[in-house]
Amino acid sequence: MTDHVGDYVSRVFAAEDEILLSLREEADRTGLPPISISADTGRLLQVLLLAVGARRVLEVGTLGGYSAIWIARALPADGSLISLELETKHAEFATRYVRRAGLAEKVEIRVGRALDLLASLDGEQFDAIFLDADKEPLPTYFEWGLRLVRRGGLIIADNALWGGRVVDERVDDDATRGVREMNRRMATDPRVAGILVPTHDGVAIGVVL
Ligand code: SAH
Ligand code: DHB
Ligand code: MG
Repeated sequence: MTDHVGDYVSRVFAAEDEILLSLREEADRTGLPPISISADTGRLLQVLLLAVGARRVLEVGTLGGYSAIWIARALPADGSLISLELETKHAEFATRYVRRAGLAEKVEIRVGRALDLLASLDGEQFDAIFLDADKEPLPTYFEWGLRLVRRGGLIIADNALWGGRVVDERVDDDATRGVREMNRRMATDPRVAGILVPTHDGVAIGVVL
């Protein structure tokens, strides 16, 4: 989708408050990678979470906490988000902004490799999982989603278009293969009803059946 269409949607539907603006400004200034979700993707997450009455959400890939703040703001007072992050530096940045947003009670950031942290969550139940970390293990993250998300809950993944590389036949690296395989499962696995919404870099959404 062209950028100015996304900008229009963000401006009309997903205005950022002072905290989100300040987070992005400090992230850019201090050299955090500029790969947070877009504001319109943040709003899409909120609408989806509200539609399924989400109370417990799991995020894979915290970075600076931008998506975590969008997600946590869509949860009820007793709701909670667990967000998994490999880099201590990212987790510390995110913790600071989650606190500034008044969401410290709702958001717990766990530091480590997602595959290890997911295994430690086995047996727990979530209303939704948001996959936004490394791309090569996406098929495995998707299987964890099926294991951890209740029926009627959501498996959501950012970067489902992966900058257009998913449709470029010349591209065949591990990350792109991971995104393609996750998309294939979202589309064909009988345990989910899936779609890829071409917002920003693509958001894949599967309802667990
Ligand atoms: N969801 C964030 C953006 C996440 S960017 C937002 O929209 O604001 C991807 C993040 O995943 C980075 O912070 C990176 O450090 C983290 N990451 C990469 N590989 C990981 C892994 N194996 N386990 C946990 N986190 C990982
Ligand atoms: C990249 C972008 C992302 O949004 C992400 O979650 C991980 C990596 C990237 O462009 O490298
Ligand atoms: Mg992403």
